[in-house]
Amino acid sequence: AATITVPMLAEAKREGRKLAMLTAYDAGFARVFDANGVDLILIGDSLGMVVQGHDSTLPVRVDDIIYHTAAVARGAKRALKIADFPFGSDATPEQAHAAAVRFVQAGAGMVKLEGAGFKLDVIRFLVEREIPVCAHLGLTPQSVNRFGGFKVQGRDEAAAKQLRADARAVQEAGASLLVLECVPSALAAAISADLAIPTIGIGAGPGCDGQVLVLHDFLGLDSGHRRPKFVKDFLAEGGSVAGAVQAYVAAVRDGSFPDEAHSYA
Ligand code: KIV
Ligand code: NA
Repeated sequence: AATITVPMLAEAKREGRKLAMLTAYDAGFARVFDANGVDLILIGDSLGMVVQGHDSTLPVRVDDIIYHTAAVARGAKRALKIADFPFGSDATPEQAHAAAVRFVQAGAGMVKLEGAGFKLDVIRFLVEREIPVCAHLGLTPQSVNRFGGFKVQGRDEAAAKQLRADARAVQEAGASLLVLECVPSALAAAISADLAIPTIGIGAGPGCDGQVLVLHDFLGLDSGHRRPKFVKDFLAEGGSVAGAVQAYVAAVRDGSFPDEAHSYA
C-alpha cells in the first residue's frame, strides 16, 4: 500500500474512507502497525502516562517526543507519523516552530497541538512554514488543571457552540486533521459534517472520519487509572498484536468501532 501523505487525508474524507490511527512510542509496535494497515501513528504525549507513569501528560518534554518520534519513524515507513507538542512547548508561534522543526527532522510528517484561541496563530505560523498540523479539541488533557479532571466536554449548549466554532477556526487556520476527544457523539458527527478536513475521534462516537486509541488501552493493559468508556481491548479480539491491529483497522474502516457502548450520548 502507498505511503500516507497529507493530501490523501482530505481525499479519504471526500471518498468516505475512514482513517485508522493508533499511538506508538517505539519501532517495534510502529513496524507491526505499518504492516497491518494503520494509516496514522501518533507519538502522543500520552507517553507521559502510559510509558513514563505520570498521572498526567504535563511532565513530558520536547526531547521525550523527539526520542520516541525517531524510534517510531525507524519502524514505520508507510503510516504518517504525527508528533504531539508537549505541555508548554507550543505557547508561542516561534517556540512551537523551533520544536516542530526538530519533530520533522526526527521523522514526523505532521505535528499535533491542543486547543484553539491563541493556538490559531500557532497553527497559521507552522502551516505557512510547511509544517502540517493536526488540531485537538474537546477533552484536551493538557487542560486537566482547568477542567479539574478528565471529563467529557461539550455537554451543554454553550460549550457545544464554542466547540463547533473552534473546529471551524482550526480548519480556517490551516489544520489538516482534527482529533476530537471525549465529545458527545451527535456533536462530533455535526462537527465532522461541518468540516472538509477529517476528524479523528477518541470517545467521540462513530460519526467521525477516523478513530484513534492509545496503544496500551488498545492492548487492554491496566493503566492504574479508571478505564474510560471508549476503550476497547482489541488484543482479546485479535489474539495477537498483529491480529489486534487488523481487527481494529477493519472495525474503524467498516464503522463498527466505536459502537454506542464505546461512545457518549
Ligand atoms: O497523546 C495522545 O495519545 C493523544 C491521543 C489520545 C489523541 O493526544
Ligand atoms: Na496528546
